[in-house]
Amino acid sequence: MNISGRSLFLRHVAQTSPFPPMLEVASAEGCYITDIYGKKYLDFISGISVSNVGHRHPAVVSAIREQTEKYMHVMVYGEFIQAPQVQLAEAVCSMLGNPFESVYFVNSGAEAVEGALKLAKRFTGRAELISCENAYHGSTHGALSIMGSEAFKTAYRPLLPGTSRIRFNNFDDLNLISEHVAAVIVEPVQGEAGAVEAKAEWLESLRSVCSHKGVLLIFDEIQTGFGRTGTAFAWQQYGVVPDVVLMAKGMGGGLPIGAFAASRDVMQCLSHDPLLGHITTFGGNAVCAAAALAVAREISKPELLNSVEQRSKLIRELLKHPDIIEIRGKGLLLAMKLESNQRVLSVMNKCYELGLITDWFLFADDCIRIAPPIIISEEETREACAIVLKALEQTATK
Ligand SMILES: Cc1ncc(COP(=O)(O)O)c(C=O)c1O
Repeated sequence: MNISGRSLFLRHVAQTSPFPPMLEVASAEGCYITDIYGKKYLDFISGISVSNVGHRHPAVVSAIREQTEKYMHVMVYGEFIQAPQVQLAEAVCSMLGNPFESVYFVNSGAEAVEGALKLAKRFTGRAELISCENAYHGSTHGALSIMGSEAFKTAYRPLLPGTSRIRFNNFDDLNLISEHVAAVIVEPVQGEAGAVEAKAEWLESLRSVCSHKGVLLIFDEIQTGFGRTGTAFAWQQYGVVPDVVLMAKGMGGGLPIGAFAASRDVMQCLSHDPLLGHITTFGGNAVCAAAALAVAREISKPELLNSVEQRSKLIRELLKHPDIIEIRGKGLLLAMKLESNQRVLSVMNKCYELGLITDWFLFADDCIRIAPPIIISEEETREACAIVLKALEQTATK
């Protein structure tokens, strides 16, 4: 059974890299994933910042069950009134506060990015787009065009024209934002760069330049949203309000859903001249929306959000080792920097062996990703950190 599973995976499931970890999943619950041999792994990465409320959260599972008893897909997005979608839109707007009154539902992070870029072009009547060095916004053509790493883009050129990059946290580069720019898109904490936090003053200056030049400021909260950094959205800790917010990943509690949110004034331009300016078949699917509504209710609980900072502090306290160069990040989106990618890979492999799932970052391959479900208990946090320390000891070369 296991042999055929692995060989079928390699033969028929398209591969994204030559070295997938190939954990053969049997089940997942809370912070643990169990493989088909019965080995339990503590999940320290949440399926890349997705399982924020843990695997198979009971409220999410029962919302899905209840919705499947009623209806699943009934019509493409934007036509019929579907209760879970309407309630989710209201919940997201109340999580975001002013001026966010309108939510466009999509299926994934990259699709939220695509929708938001189109929205910015349409609203401003401008074509130029600015993103940051080391930014990751997804893998579709538009999202790839604004990716902050040339290495991943070269093979797919030509991409979108009129895109350029500024340096994250660099004040001088804000001068490059002109009146020809439709949008600047920024992650308040850069995920794939290895959990790099924006400086509050830089975001403030960026906000002020964008307002001054009539440029829409888009915050990509696809990885940082839904409680990951200790608030519903990371920008809420900076007090800098963007024009458009993107979300996905943790939003669906394990089901695929994403969204971009804006004021009604901004968002309404997608519905006319031409009408159907952005459309999607499955965006805001009723079952995914029901799951996301359950997640939104969970992460609105102050005790859960408060625990994020406590766990983050505990991880920083426990992970003390001469080989750890730095731990950076916000809340439960952390990067543990080691001397090299080779060391990261050996520690990661050892962690797998010892029953802990970790990963590296696309643009920071000398860092171990630490992004457990935000529901992780103190005991589970201690267990995970003990494994990391053991893996560091057992892979030490000096
Ligand atoms: C910040 C950010 N934006 C966008 C995306 C793309 O999301 P998806 O993989 O759902 O298309 C990701 C995915 O990792 C992300 O981290």
